[in-house]
This record gives sequence, structure tokens and C-alpha cells, in this order.
Amino acid sequence: MQGTPQPPKLYDFAPRLNTFRTDVIQGLQRPLKELPSKYFYDEVGSQLFDQICELPEYYPTRTEISIMQRNIQHIARALGPRCMLIEYGSGSSLKTRQLLEQLQPAAYVPIDISRQHLLNTATELAQAYPDIEMLPVCADYTSNFTLPQPSVQVARRVAYYPGSTIGNFDPNAAIRFLASIAQTCGQGGGLLIGVDLKKECNILHRAYNDSEGVTAQFNLHLLERINLELSGNFQLDQFSHYAFYNPIIGRIEMHLESLRRQQVHLDGQMVAFKLGETIWTESSYKFTLEEFAQLASEAGFRIEQVWLDTQQLFSVQYLSVE
Ligand code: AVI
Repeated sequence: MQGTPQPPKLYDFAPRLNTFRTDVIQGLQRPLKELPSKYFYDEVGSQLFDQICELPEYYPTRTEISIMQRNIQHIARALGPRCMLIEYGSGSSLKTRQLLEQLQPAAYVPIDISRQHLLNTATELAQAYPDIEMLPVCADYTSNFTLPQPSVQVARRVAYYPGSTIGNFDPNAAIRFLASIAQTCGQGGGLLIGVDLKKECNILHRAYNDSEGVTAQFNLHLLERINLELSGNFQLDQFSHYAFYNPIIGRIEMHLESLRRQQVHLDGQMVAFKLGETIWTESSYKFTLEEFAQLASEAGFRIEQVWLDTQQLFSVQYLSVE
């Protein structure tokens, strides 16, 4: 009998405490003001990010998709049959569908902080792939949570971390995060990861300063979110998007620059800004293949295979737990 599809059971580890408030107030009280980039991704922020992924200047998404399409059979072979596929920050699982089809894992564990979005996606996927056990986990994947146990025997655990989101961590935090994935996957396990590569500075500059101003909107939306959720009074036209590539450190730095001396109030706190003072909202590290191999090895992974596009803009890599 056909009816409304039943959502799969959700494993819920979403933070109960108001960590957004604490992180925002602490970040804005620092001598160099900063906000964690994970807070970009509320409903509107996630939609803006989806728009960024479609921009002509933002090469990572389409390049990663084309690498996946071109090499999907080799990729599926490297990961092996009947694995438990664990996706960190699954969102709409768009890039994953092709992988699920080709790989036929025994179980799929999408992990995401956005509960409703996760449930909707998991329900759709459960319908589309009835032979794959869906075990959605609602959690901030950088914090502690317990992985659900599949009801069937799996050959190995394989993590999936596309999009070069690893570049949004500082190197030490990236090593700690990858090490925690290695521990979760254990001996015989692996990690399929998207890694953005170092390239000509102008290509990088344009990717984070698009001509339609979507990246600027995405960045400024963080202030809008503070206004909405923490009763802030940021005037959005008094801040501007400022992003540049630092070739010495090998990272994009994204900031919000105060266009005048001003005071902002949020949740009973006052924050003073000088003219030209910035809030650092995101870093996006770029790697050479050697640099990433070194980072992965410090986290307990060995590089097994690397797939590239013809211009070597981006890489998809399969790593095994050492
Ligand atoms: C999610 N992350 C990999 C993106 C990046 O390129 O660092 C976020 C982003 N920020 C601005 N544009 C895209």
C-alpha cells in the first residue's frame, strides 16, 4: 500500500546548549574579532552556499563533481563492496547519490546539524535505495557523538568528506579532525575526501569575490543571523565583504570589514568597532598534493589513490587508515 513515506529513525546528538550565543560573544570580544564559519549554514546561509556552488567563478563544486563522474567506477572499487559509508556534513547528499548507486554500501550514515533537512533527505534516499540501511545522525560532526550500529554485517567503515571542507579548519584542527575520523573508521577503514589544490592566486581571488556578489551576501548573512537569533543590531550596509588569498600561508581569508567607527549591541552586550576593523569569518586552506599527504599521515592515514581534473584544480583522494 502506498502512503506517506516513513522517515528512517533519527539518531539525535544536536547540541542542546546555546553554543551559538557563547561562540559569537566570545569571538567578538577577542582582540582580533572572529566568528566560526560553521555558523554560516542556517537555512538561508545553506541556500546561499548552494548558489555559490553554481557560480562560474566558484570552480571547486563542478570540478569535484566532474572528477567523481569520470572516475566513479574506480572510486567504488577502491572503497569496496558492502561498506558502511559515513558522510560528514551531508546536506542534501547531492554528490552522494551517484556514489550510493555505484558503491551499493550496506549502510549509509549521513551526519548533519540541520535536523529537518537531514530527515527529508534520508527519507527520500530510503525510498530511492531500499537495499541500503539509512542511519541519519543529527550532530555537529566536530563534536562527540555515537555512531549507530547497522543491523547488517559491514565489510569496513568508510568516511566521505567532499567539498574540501577540510580546508576550513586550521592545520592542527584539521589533523585532529582527520585523526578522529581514522579512529572512527578503524583498521581496514578509509576516507574519501575532496581537497582543493594550490593554484594561480587570481583564480582563487575570483572564486571568493564573485561578480554577482553572492559570496558577499553569504558572508554578510552571518550578521543577519546574529540580528535575528541574538537580537543584534548590526547594520549590514555598514560592513563589507573582504576576501583575499594569502600565498605565504596558502589560504583564503574571509572577513567582514567595518566601514566606520561604530557600536553594535547584541543580547545585552556592546561590541565596538574601529573604522576598517574586521571580523574574520572563514579560512579556506589550499594544498599541494605533498602538503595534504603530510597532513593526512600526521592524522594516521595513508594516501591510496588520487583523482584529478585535467587542469589540476581539485583532487578527490582515497585514504586508508594506517
Ligand atoms: C564549504 N567550504 C569548503 C567553502 C570554501 O570554499 O571554503 C565555503 C565557502 N566560502 C566562501 N565560498 C565558499
